[in-house]
Order: sequence, then structure tokens, then C-alpha cells
Amino acid sequence: MKAIIGGTGVDTMEAIDSQRKVVDTPYGDVELFVGKGKDASLVFLPRHGSDHSNPPHLINYRANVKALEMLGVTHAIGIYAVGSITEKLPPGKVGLVSDFIDLSSGRDHTFYTGGEHGVVHTSMDEVFDTSLRSRVLKEDESLLDAGVYICTNGPRLETPAEIRYLRHIGGDMVGMTLATEVSLLREAGISTLALAYSINWAAGIEHGQVTFITDKQIASLKGRMTELCRNVLQSSSSK
Ligand code: HPA
Repeated sequence: MKAIIGGTGVDTMEAIDSQRKVVDTPYGDVELFVGKGKDASLVFLPRHGSDHSNPPHLINYRANVKALEMLGVTHAIGIYAVGSITEKLPPGKVGLVSDFIDLSSGRDHTFYTGGEHGVVHTSMDEVFDTSLRSRVLKEDESLLDAGVYICTNGPRLETPAEIRYLRHIGGDMVGMTLATEVSLLREAGISTLALAYSINWAAGIEHGQVTFITDKQIASLKGRMTELCRNVLQSSSSK
């Protein structure tokens, strides 16, 4: 089984023929969509809920990832909306995340909480799956190398001074979800890849207030990313 995890702007996945299912995990219930017919090898998980009701700092990441593990998911592509800090991924563009810096706090970010759950230090030398990465690039050569994602706690956006700091420490884009989710996917042994799409220049990069790309632009990027994930995850070589 292969998963697509969608976020802001990708909370539903009409292009995939699926059935809603609620998975009861030790961390709580998770709503997801299991593919049918020709999409039977796919599952779609809207990380914020299909009605986008869970803000980034309150998402039940452990339940989400555990539900995928319980369904036998081996590979997942996460889709993340970000704000651009550098030119590597300007607004309106899609790219692959190469690495992340986690500046979130206070989240249930690990399965290894000691005692019966054990103490494990998961390796993060190579966060993203290299063979999934080559397959995605083969399918869409125009994808950008989006660079380093910095994960803030949110839900508020950053100040211009925070963005100057994030750029200084090596960030190319900023978002609020990837680090927590990807760490848990790695702990669960699920091979993962992250597609980032930028919806704005981060605070202070342009003069004036932060402005977002249009819903129409987001819908078109969603179509492109869905198609890409579907083609790659359904191809037999990613089994
Ligand atoms: N900051 C944090 N997260 C985001 C942004 C941003 O500017 N845009 C989209 N997700």
C-alpha cells in the first residue's frame, strides 16, 4: 500500500477513486480514504482532516502515521504548502524537499516514549527515499530542488526578523508540519518523499504584507501533484 498525505489546499483528492474509512489507532481515530478499483493500492490521508479543522500544532501526527502503518503502507509522498525564503522555490512552483530543520515544540513527535515503547534514536542521515526521489524526477523533470524546509510551530506566521534568522540558519522554505510528520514516518519505517509547493513569499522577503497565490493557482498545482504522486506510486517499481 502507498500513501499520499495532503495538507493545505490538498485536503481532498477527487482524482482518486476511494472510500472513506476511519482507522482506530492506539492514539485516536483517523479519517482517511482508501483507493478502489485501479486506485486500490493507494490511500489518501488529509493531515488536517478532510474539513481542514486541525491546525498544524494540534494535528494528531502519531495517530495519522500509525493508521498508515496499520494499513500496511510502505511508501508515502507528503505534499506540503510552504512560504518561500529563498529563490530555490518561488511561489507557484513545486519542488522536492532535500532536508529539514525542526523548530516545532510541544508536539507528540515520537513513538519512542520509553518504558514499554522503548528508547530508539532513529537515524535521519538520509531523510528521504532516494529511489522514490529518482522515480518522481523521472516522471517530472521540471520539479525544483526546493532545499531545506524549516518547521515552525505555528499556527501564526513568522515575523520578518524570524524569517531573516531562518534564512541565516540555512532555510529555503518555511512550513508548520513536515518535520513532525516525517520523523514519525521514519520511525514507522515508511519510506517517504516530500513535495513542497510555495503559496507565498515568507514575511519580510517582499515589501508589504504576506500575499498568497490564488485558489485557482493552488487548484492547478494540486492537479499536477496528484497526477505525479499517483503515477509514481502506482508504478510497480515502487513496490
Ligand atoms: N510560514 C509558515 N508556514 C507556511 C507559510 C509561511 O509563510 N506559507 C505556507 N505555510
